[in-house]
Amino acid sequence: MGRAGRLRTAHVSASSAAAVTLRIHRSHGGQGRFALEAGPFTSVLDLLFTAQRRFDRSLVFRFACRIGVCGSCAVRINGREGLACRTRARDVGPEIALEPLRHLPVVRDLAVDLRPFRAAYAAALPALRPSAEVRTAPTPRAPALPEIGGQGDCIACAACYSASETVATAPGYPGAAALIRAASLLADPRDGAHAARIGALTPWLALDDPEATVVCPKGLRHETALARLRAVAARAGADAQA
Ligand code: SF4
Ligand code: FES
Repeated sequence: MGRAGRLRTAHVSASSAAAVTLRIHRSHGGQGRFALEAGPFTSVLDLLFTAQRRFDRSLVFRFACRIGVCGSCAVRINGREGLACRTRARDVGPEIALEPLRHLPVVRDLAVDLRPFRAAYAAALPALRPSAEVRTAPTPRAPALPEIGGQGDCIACAACYSASETVATAPGYPGAAALIRAASLLADPRDGAHAARIGALTPWLALDDPEATVVCPKGLRHETALARLRAVAARAGADAQA
């Protein structure tokens, strides 16, 4: 049997460990299959480390913080995007299939090139551009902005970009993360680029992107952002006609 199809096994000593089979997309062809054991709190990222250290040092995947804040470890887990470090293996099941994010070039195995995602994100003009008023104010403070759901800020994991059918079918669509960022900045009174931002994104505001909210590990709601952007665009259109 070829290297990609061979099943390799590892055991952990904890009596509460459960058997899991990890199947990993390999960019040189086929899948790596590893028979492992997962304790109650073993993450999918932990399993990847075990597979790499014990069986195949050439296995490539991304990680950094291991606590769900850097966004590096996003992959497709049994067909759905998630953070490997925040996904408990037991919650996935005894068969865990890992694939790289979609709509992005694969560098190797589970690692993708995020540059297309970041380039699309740039369409939102994602940096705050202080208004002339704020630039002259001595100590501009961050205002309390309305939330777009979730547990904090976007971590640029690209899970929404991968899950999106809109990304697949609408070339140039900037993605849910870009629209969420734009909606935040449009609610920020310090920002002086509202018109440019809404102008850049208006062509995309008719599109829905339901998969984005489903997979976002921070619980950010694309539809909330989209509703805000549509309202701002409608007001801008009405003002222009007045
Ligand atoms: S909006 Fe959510 S899913 Fe999309 S990049 Fe940000 S954190 Fe990830
Ligand atoms: S390693 Fe940073 S979010 Fe998973």
